[in-house]
Amino acid sequence: MTQQEANSYILGIESSCDDTSAAVIKNGKILSNVIATQDIHKQYGGVVPELASRAHQQNIIPTVDLALKKAGITKKDLSAIAFTRGPGLMGALLVGTSFAKAMSMSLNIPMVEVNHMQAHILAHFIAKEGEEKAMPKFPFICLTVSGGHTQLVLVKDYFDMEVMGETIDDAAGEAFDKMAKIMGFPYPGGPLIDKFAKEGDKTRFDFTHPRTTGFDYSFSGLKTQFLNFIKKCERDDPNFVEKHKADICASIQATIVKTLFSKLKKLAEQENIKDIAIAGGVSANSYLRKELYKLGEKKDWNVFIPDFEYCTDNAGMIAITGYHKFLKGEFIGQEVTPFARLKI
Ligand code: KG4
Ligand code: ZN
Repeated sequence: MTQQEANSYILGIESSCDDTSAAVIKNGKILSNVIATQDIHKQYGGVVPELASRAHQQNIIPTVDLALKKAGITKKDLSAIAFTRGPGLMGALLVGTSFAKAMSMSLNIPMVEVNHMQAHILAHFIAKEGEEKAMPKFPFICLTVSGGHTQLVLVKDYFDMEVMGETIDDAAGEAFDKMAKIMGFPYPGGPLIDKFAKEGDKTRFDFTHPRTTGFDYSFSGLKTQFLNFIKKCERDDPNFVEKHKADICASIQATIVKTLFSKLKKLAEQENIKDIAIAGGVSANSYLRKELYKLGEKKDWNVFIPDFEYCTDNAGMIAITGYHKFLKGEFIGQEVTPFARLKI
């Protein structure tokens, strides 16, 4: 029996931004997924890279320890360690990479490098033991919307992906966060816009939809338009945001979602693909999820939306990606270094 055929336990480690996470996958089924979120960045209005690295250093041992405990195994049971090599913050990636290297060496087990953006997409293949879960079939389209990226990806196979369009400036999550900051909300503002928008009227305020060529996106013009709009309204009424919070949030959220979907529809038509997935932190947005299901019904798509736990950064997605590479015997040596700008 080869190593790949025996029971396999893959430890996944994620440390690309401000979440330290560890997860265990047994034979492709998830056993644990522990996420330590770093609250320190809230007071600075965004992620401070050096503070993120330090927090990763503090969190990584207890997080891995808890993931192993929750999985009911010890480190001696592990078959391989998968870690995020990039893209992400260099110092943050170094913590996960160095930890994976040390553990791999001390346990004498192989290491698997994982691309964070591929992992967001492959999060769709995470399932628990005995869980009947519908999964997208290749080829499918995935709209990946996170704090650092906005990509329309044609997914031909687990590791055969083509980026058909992406943002030429701000990412969708970044747009949510920056507009939230303009309204005075703490970081990350995306979930707060989602929350306040629930009570609001999305037709109350009008924003221009960004226009870009092909399948690319742009959100920085919308952000400037929003900033000018808020400044102007606050000149007339200093309590404008507080009074109209719900309607402002609903209106800006609807503009972002409509922009995201316009290119998605175009790509699905061009490629004649009906399996449509979303991934990344912004796919946790409740309005986006609801609207995608509606659009899917209209277009006769099979829509795939990850469980909340696997939308934002998590090591479950790193472990499942690592598992599929492990099956192919794609390991990496101790000479590996993180790559902040790693591409799909
Ligand atoms: O994928 P992710 O956890 O980290 C990156 O790889 O960037 O995405 C984080 C982003 C943040 O910009 C955050 O505001 C956004 O996802 N986000 C949301 C929601 N939950 C997280 N944006 C809108 N609505 C949400 N419910
Ligand atoms: Zn991410």
